[in-house]
Amino acid sequence: MSNTETTGPDLTHLGIPEAESETETHIGLTETYAAHNYHPLRVVLAKGEGAWVTDVEGRRYLDCLAGYSALNFGHSHPRLVARAHAQLDNLTLTSRAFYNDQLGPFAKALAELTAKDMILPMNSGAEAVETAIKVSRRWGYSVKGVPENRAHIVVMEGNFHGRTTTIVSFSNDPDATQGYAPYTPGFTMVKYGDLDALESAINEHTVAVLLEPIQGEGGVVIPPDGFLRQVRELCSARDILMVADEIQSGLARTGKTFACDHEGVVPDIYILGKALGGGLYPVSAIAADTRVLGVITPGSHGSTFGGNPLAAAIGHEVVQMLQTGEFQERATVLGERLTAGLEALVGHGFDAVRSRGLWAGIDIDPSLGTGRQVTEALLADGVLAKEAHGQTVRLAPPIVASEDDIDLLVGAFEKICRG
Ligand SMILES: Cc1ncc(COP(=O)(O)O)c(C=O)c1O
Repeated sequence: MSNTETTGPDLTHLGIPEAESETETHIGLTETYAAHNYHPLRVVLAKGEGAWVTDVEGRRYLDCLAGYSALNFGHSHPRLVARAHAQLDNLTLTSRAFYNDQLGPFAKALAELTAKDMILPMNSGAEAVETAIKVSRRWGYSVKGVPENRAHIVVMEGNFHGRTTTIVSFSNDPDATQGYAPYTPGFTMVKYGDLDALESAINEHTVAVLLEPIQGEGGVVIPPDGFLRQVRELCSARDILMVADEIQSGLARTGKTFACDHEGVVPDIYILGKALGGGLYPVSAIAADTRVLGVITPGSHGSTFGGNPLAAAIGHEVVQMLQTGEFQERATVLGERLTAGLEALVGHGFDAVRSRGLWAGIDIDPSLGTGRQVTEALLADGVLAKEAHGQTVRLAPPIVASEDDIDLLVGAFEKICRG
């Protein structure tokens, strides 16, 4: 690359010191013109293929965050790119004022994958969670017979369900909630994995229990064995909807189509997002039976972009890719390799490793550094990862990674642990 290509434009008039590299130029522009709602690692990515990304300086990195599991199929999966290209040439947006020829087939395929009667398509994960909350409340009033304004939902401590005002109203992360009051009422938070606490929080107006089968943002926290089954039984016995947010845990990440499958549990509502759009496009949805989703009537909920033909085409391709089970199987195989490598480091720099499929949370021994410092060291070694909370690093490599990629990732940690 020539000097002129790597040296950025002069932005000194904006208070940005003269950039020394293209990386610094882009970081300067982003920090100046985009609000500071994230604290990214200092790398500027320009290209991605499979499990690998390349930055503006031409350096390659193994992407072990994979868009928080949105990139389960890797960057630019050829099947997904081809399907998106084909659809771009035909029709991209109709709004739901009209039918389009992509939504019906996608809805049928996703309903079959979830073994539910129907779906309701949206765009972002948070919108799908909002949809599940609205549907649960409406179901509570019109089917369960809860008195107006009394619908109650139980949620879990340490949850992460998105960023809307209602969703942050039941978060216990001060970074996510502070300064956003007044909060939406109608939620009770209980300790994740504590069935007794859940049982005591339930009242006659409880319409739903909303949980992540594994808490991703919480640090890949896996509830005690049997917890999901017990929640299922409790919900069935008390006529309460079990609502599983599988936005991060679903669609092959854990080695099964849904994380609930590990306990043979079928929730009343699945909430899906991230990988449903193949990392190409925001596609989310909830899936449920008619006795639940039938409460939605024309005009009662919607989104201009939800169910648009481009989203539906990509989502349909994703569902077809999941139907064979090959990605689920691959996540299991690679996950076993990753877990074995990481577990060997417990006591040598790691305090604990939690994993399911190709998804791991590592508690770093504080004497080694913070989670952030470890991700910075990984970056310097060509591996992208993200800390979850202070001492935790979470890993979710694309499922298209190779065995060598997983060994490289483990090797990078071994190097850090050796000091
Ligand atoms: C479990 C879970 N639910 C909901 C969301 C919100 O999704 P989005 O960022 O697409 O709104 C996330 C995002 O990380 C998530 O992990």
